[in-house]
Amino acid sequence: MTDDELVALARTAALRAYAPYSRFHVGCAVESIDGEVVTGANMENACYRLGLCAEQSALTAAQHKFGLDKVARIAVAGGGMDDGRLTGDLACTPCGGCRQAIFEAARLSGIDIEILSSSGSGAAVERNSVSALMPHGFGPANLSDGG
Ligand code: THU
Repeated sequence: MTDDELVALARTAALRAYAPYSRFHVGCAVESIDGEVVTGANMENACYRLGLCAEQSALTAAQHKFGLDKVARIAVAGGGMDDGRLTGDLACTPCGGCRQAIFEAARLSGIDIEILSSSGSGAAVERNSVSALMPHGFGPANLSDGG
């Protein structure tokens, strides 16, 4: 799948977000090393701080479909919603908690997972590796080193 196709899936997934509180819709597409793809979107609830991010939603689906250890590439798209269209100029990079979850998958696979971050409008797409987004991360190796 091309970068554009993966970003397009993330953008479509954002349309299925449940984000009545923030009104910020995020979609995520996760591709496996074998080319399988799953998607997810953010899902909020009335207890604001307990909402689920799009990346966590998609990574949960990835674990069920092909395993976290097979995650190779991730696309994220986020923005406002206007007339059924995703809007906004800033690339939506994963929040800190989502970086931790992507870091976990990267440590399992040994792959420096690539993350494509799209703005709502789609005009800006940034490309980062998880090692760039999450340097000096705490992962499974730290726990197994615990004695
Ligand atoms: N959000 C995500 O889904 N992923 C991110 O990486 C950043 C933030 C969601 C959480 C919340 O539902 C909304 O965007 C506003 O923060």
